[in-house]
Amino acid sequence: MKSLINILDLSVEEIDELIAKANDIIANPDKYREACRYKKLATLFYEPSTRTRLSFEAAMLELGGSVLGFSEANSSSAAKGESVADTARTVSCYADIIAMRHPKEGAPLVAARSASIPVINAGDGGHNHPTQTLTDLLTIYREKGRFNNLTLGFCGDLKFGRTVHSLISAMSRYQGIKFVLISPHELKLPSYVKKDAIKEKGIPYVQTTDLEEVMPDLDILYMTRVQRERFFNEEDYLRLKDSYILDMPKLANAKADLSIMHPLPRVNEISTAVDDDPRACYFRQALNGKYIRMALILKLLEEAGR
Ligand code: CP
Repeated sequence: MKSLINILDLSVEEIDELIAKANDIIANPDKYREACRYKKLATLFYEPSTRTRLSFEAAMLELGGSVLGFSEANSSSAAKGESVADTARTVSCYADIIAMRHPKEGAPLVAARSASIPVINAGDGGHNHPTQTLTDLLTIYREKGRFNNLTLGFCGDLKFGRTVHSLISAMSRYQGIKFVLISPHELKLPSYVKKDAIKEKGIPYVQTTDLEEVMPDLDILYMTRVQRERFFNEEDYLRLKDSYILDMPKLANAKADLSIMHPLPRVNEISTAVDDDPRACYFRQALNGKYIRMALILKLLEEAGR
């Protein structure tokens, strides 16, 4: 049973196939309108979400399927103490595929071991968010036309930002990649991600606290929100939350074809004045999330013979 827990569960070739499928869905939506007729997606969200849950639901509906599920743990039997494993086994009786978000790292993996249907990790704690990474990859492909020979800057909360961890892992498999890691000292990329995805692969990287200094080098700037929900104390969050605020003056020395990405939600870290700049692609990125999730649902259901 194939589930998607970590972006590295997918080979580079499989990612290429998903990107091609998503692009075909964008070009020929009518071809896919009945592709999941009579199929059901269960969205089990133990943590808040707008984009991930709603784009999964829109994806299944646009494929002609149906959706069931819950959007907070308190409206499920988790509130009575039911385990993730028992929930996944039970939901396998009612649905064909599960998308699960959970505050605990590893919960979707536990679910996948008990479920008899594919499980998609829709974000587990500060760990991974592989479908956001697929969204980001589709966006990079559509904005840049390639995955090789890119300098990617990651700015903000690189410690708790699971989307950063997953995208660095994914991009580390391509040629000619350079990473620029921009964060306060307290929010640096975890050493395990740096070791596995950067150092062991000999990928050049720069670590800095100064966004403007590195701006001219970047092909992609991936801004992130400081993840309030992962902090142990509010004082630290308040001190760090506005470490970086991208505005038009800070883009003065940026490349003309820079792509500004953000997984969203944004709080303060990108001024709304940037939204009208053609280099801002974060709302196109949110739309891409629906198409790549359509491609992923099709792939996993086919592999599961459903
Ligand atoms: N990017 C993302 O995961 O957004 P949501 O938390 O709204 O799903």
